[in-house]
Amino acid sequence: MDDLLSLRQSFLDEISAVSEIAELQQLKVRYTGRKGLITGRLKALSTVPPEEKPAFGRAVNELRDFVEQSIEDTETELRKVEKQKRLLSEKIDITLPGRPLKAGNIHPLNRILDEIKDIFVFLGFNIEEGPEIELDYYNFEALNIPKHHPARDMQDTFYITDDVVLRTHTSPVQVRVMEKKRPPLRIIAPGKVYRCDADISHTPMFHQVEGLLVDDDISFSDLKGVIELFIHSFFGKDTPVRFRPSYFPFTEPSAEVDIGCIFCRGKGCRICKKTGWLEVMGCGMVNPRVFEMSGYGPDEFSGFAFGMGVERLTMLKYSIDDIRLFYENDLRFLMQF
Ligand code: PHE
Repeated sequence: MDDLLSLRQSFLDEISAVSEIAELQQLKVRYTGRKGLITGRLKALSTVPPEEKPAFGRAVNELRDFVEQSIEDTETELRKVEKQKRLLSEKIDITLPGRPLKAGNIHPLNRILDEIKDIFVFLGFNIEEGPEIELDYYNFEALNIPKHHPARDMQDTFYITDDVVLRTHTSPVQVRVMEKKRPPLRIIAPGKVYRCDADISHTPMFHQVEGLLVDDDISFSDLKGVIELFIHSFFGKDTPVRFRPSYFPFTEPSAEVDIGCIFCRGKGCRICKKTGWLEVMGCGMVNPRVFEMSGYGPDEFSGFAFGMGVERLTMLKYSIDDIRLFYENDLRFLMQF
């Protein structure tokens, strides 16, 4: 009986030190398992003198019930504590401000392209597209640039075969549209063009926007009016514009359009090379040879065409001095727009 009392005491000491379910499990095995301490006492019943057996048996059973009950109670208690701990560690402060998601940004070239398109769409121009891998015929011949003509030197061409090139400008779209449609025509053709050239103001691929307007009685003053209106809505209405005589095989007469330098206001600086003017596009009256090759009669219609570089306009508008920045995908640059 004394032995049972001290067993009970040591059980009480041990269980009061338990702080984890796993420890409790071990304790349970040690006392009430098949080879456990209490089970051992039950087995020892046979060695007890017969007259003491009932009292001893009752005492052992009582101790076993007590131990089992204590373990169960402790387990319930420990589970409660563990749950409490877990809830505390999983607690989130829903009043904290959220982490902002990184949003994308429209590429500066697309932003300017959209601006250019908006101005011409407002003027009633439709948007057309043509292939970037183009026949020599559309890129050159139908634009009055015959094979071996020195005018081909104006553009460093990527040839795929003798008859297929990467288009060097968007002008071939003029011919493709005129082959399919009769005037009145008012189109712009934005897209990628390719030239074998690379430095801080040239990349082998860049973007142009072509324009073409053809009707019964179109004059150079119509060309000037449309271009001036475009420049004034794009660069601001006080921007000076001038038309400087130039040469393109597919327009006659041809002109280069300059704007008063937006950096020095015409005084002369590094960017305008001290001239006070910046070149922004080429243009001219459609050469009758181009009409003919597109299937129109030479005297049937008149019209004008123009072509501008999107990178150049974007660089001027945002004062960007290196064209390669557009293609480096550096977010520090791109997120500024
Ligand atoms: N295609 C010419 C170029 O790339 C620009 C241009 C287009 C000039 C239309 C006149 C008319 O340089």
